[in-house]
Amino acid sequence: MLKICFHGHSCFTISSDDNKGIIIDPFLKGNPLADIEPQDVDVEAVLITHGHDDHFGDAIEIAKNSDALIVAPFELAVFCQQRGVEKVHGMHIGGSHEFDFGWVKLTHAHHGSAYIEDGNIIYTGNPCGFLYGAGDNLVYHAGDTGLFGDMELLGDMHDIDVALLPIGDNFVMGPEDALTAVSMLKPRIIVPMHYNTFDLIEQDASRFQKMVEEKTNSICTVLEPGGHLML
Ligand code: NI
Ligand code: MN
Repeated sequence: MLKICFHGHSCFTISSDDNKGIIIDPFLKGNPLADIEPQDVDVEAVLITHGHDDHFGDAIEIAKNSDALIVAPFELAVFCQQRGVEKVHGMHIGGSHEFDFGWVKLTHAHHGSAYIEDGNIIYTGNPCGFLYGAGDNLVYHAGDTGLFGDMELLGDMHDIDVALLPIGDNFVMGPEDALTAVSMLKPRIIVPMHYNTFDLIEQDASRFQKMVEEKTNSICTVLEPGGHLML
């Protein structure tokens, strides 16, 4: 049994009966939609797709508080280490690894990746998405990305139970491109993310849900922050 909780924007915690699980893209402080605080989080690992603040968020504080392992693209993992995180595991696009808390594979994402501090841009490698397998379940978190044709390949190679896809437009896929992504990935369930956090990325999730259910065989589950689904 896998529990996937949405915490607003692109932040999810995924846990199971025998595992306190992971948090992905822990943007909580400064996230107007977040339903939890960094100090509420107790996980085995923090997965970060890229260095932008609305994804990197409170990763360092959470990793230190719960003595969690940070899993991220190599350059970003090194950056976390330089900021005092003891346990980091760098990976790169196409690579996978079996951890105590599940299987992780990095997928590519068409986006940027930098940590911006006091006006300085610190390069943090390539952005990524994650395939996360735990038990019999497979979850795909796309990170921040535009639509790309290799989603077809991901859909053919993997039996994806839940796809977490951005729909906010401007920085990432908008609803129409996300609909095409769903038709290529063929997940059992799709959960939209990265929308309505700020005015610029406002979207009508129920309209998107309708499009998905009319045009694909996937179920679209819209989660409110604090909401969850069980697999
Ligand atoms: Ni970004
Ligand atoms: Mn973003």
